[in-house]
Amino acid sequence: MSDVIAPGRGAWFQRPDLWADMDRWHEQVGEIRRTAPVLYVDDPGFTPFWVLTRHADVFAVSRDNAHWLNTARSVLGRDDDWQEMVDSGMPLPATLVHLDGTSHRDHRAVTNDWFKPAAVRHRQPRIDELADLYVQKLRDLGGACDFAKDIAQPYTLRVIMDIYGVPEEDEPLMMDLTQGIFGAADPEFLGGADDPGQRVIASVMEFIQYFNDLTEDRRACPADDLASVIANGEIDGQPMGDIERLWYYIIVATAGHDTTSFALSGGMEQLARDPAQLSGLAGDDDALVNAADEIIRWTTPVRHFMRYATETMTVAGVEIPEGAGVLLSYPSANRDEDVFRDPMVFDVRRPDADKLLSFGVGAHFCLGAQFARRELRTMLDRLSRELVHLELAGEPEWAESHFVSGVKHLPLEYAMR
Ligand code: HEM
Repeated sequence: MSDVIAPGRGAWFQRPDLWADMDRWHEQVGEIRRTAPVLYVDDPGFTPFWVLTRHADVFAVSRDNAHWLNTARSVLGRDDDWQEMVDSGMPLPATLVHLDGTSHRDHRAVTNDWFKPAAVRHRQPRIDELADLYVQKLRDLGGACDFAKDIAQPYTLRVIMDIYGVPEEDEPLMMDLTQGIFGAADPEFLGGADDPGQRVIASVMEFIQYFNDLTEDRRACPADDLASVIANGEIDGQPMGDIERLWYYIIVATAGHDTTSFALSGGMEQLARDPAQLSGLAGDDDALVNAADEIIRWTTPVRHFMRYATETMTVAGVEIPEGAGVLLSYPSANRDEDVFRDPMVFDVRRPDADKLLSFGVGAHFCLGAQFARRELRTMLDRLSRELVHLELAGEPEWAESHFVSGVKHLPLEYAMR
């Protein structure tokens, strides 16, 4: 009888398994957004926090870096997992998303040029090549595949590893360690670890070894790749700190592909349910841009980040004490009926797709947004041209994670021109 007991309202944001059924999630969270848009959560194992579910509140807090800090705990976790991490001696998280103020600004500047629109445009021929390679793979698979595993994951991984300068033979390791950090709560991604906390620590430790070797290599022989920029990056004329450099590698290696891959697989799920939406996209740049945004709005692969109040703050009439955390619920903000017309409808031609908050907003706005968008529209362009039939060949399976998640298995049947 235990499954008739409805989970507490905070559970929708912190319990990994509840992210494996997004229809139910949106139904429940839609109700919370309409009735308690700033939700107080006091669940066992967690320091109490508030959840911001409305677009306007997520937007305003994200942009107000003077009053809201990211800190080392910008991803929600259980207090005992955090303590385990501190006790393990592992370097505490210090990626761009964990840094604040001038430290964040200066570290972001190290790679910023690589992610500007012109620089990303320059990479388009290579993205085209990789998209062609995976469309050929789709053809070779002969009409049936697990699109998430066979296409979305390796395609998005290769685009990022290519600019990174990580050799192709190391890509499976990058995938495994990324899943160890983002998806550790999902039994499929637990690896040999006993629990998710240990899996995260083991993955970080392995990344440290890998990236220390990479740093040595790129300091000795710099190449035209992002790894060389990070290895030789300077802050105020001094080499970047060892810990910050390590975490810099990790965020670019991890944030760059699982996210985009979940967007692509979740978008394909919807297109398989309504293949007519694919037609007419090929060659129409405006339509492709809109379609990519709609896919990223619909899937919202990054489920949250936290912010902490520098002083007592009021959000939508609710007082948040100094030092308390708020969880920015991007998937909820992206279904806010005050901003999106018929938000529960997937429509690649919707006029308001560009209001998506999937990449955040403000100083921490996703560094790789240009890449993610380009990868999606490059693939959509080809799929729209090549696919003459598309349908689901089974139920999609969802990753269990409250941080980065989406469709991890997508059985499709299709025919190509
Ligand atoms: C659909 C794909 C993606 C989604 C949904 C996504 C989402 C996000 C979100 C929500 C943030 C935090 C924004 C904020 O706090 O305001 C972020 C930050 C970041 N993302 Fe992405 N991302 C994606 C793809 C990528 C790619 C391809 C890269 C490439 C390396 C990347 C690298 C980063 C980095 C480095 C940050 C930290 C930026 C900072 O704190 O200054 N992301 N992303």
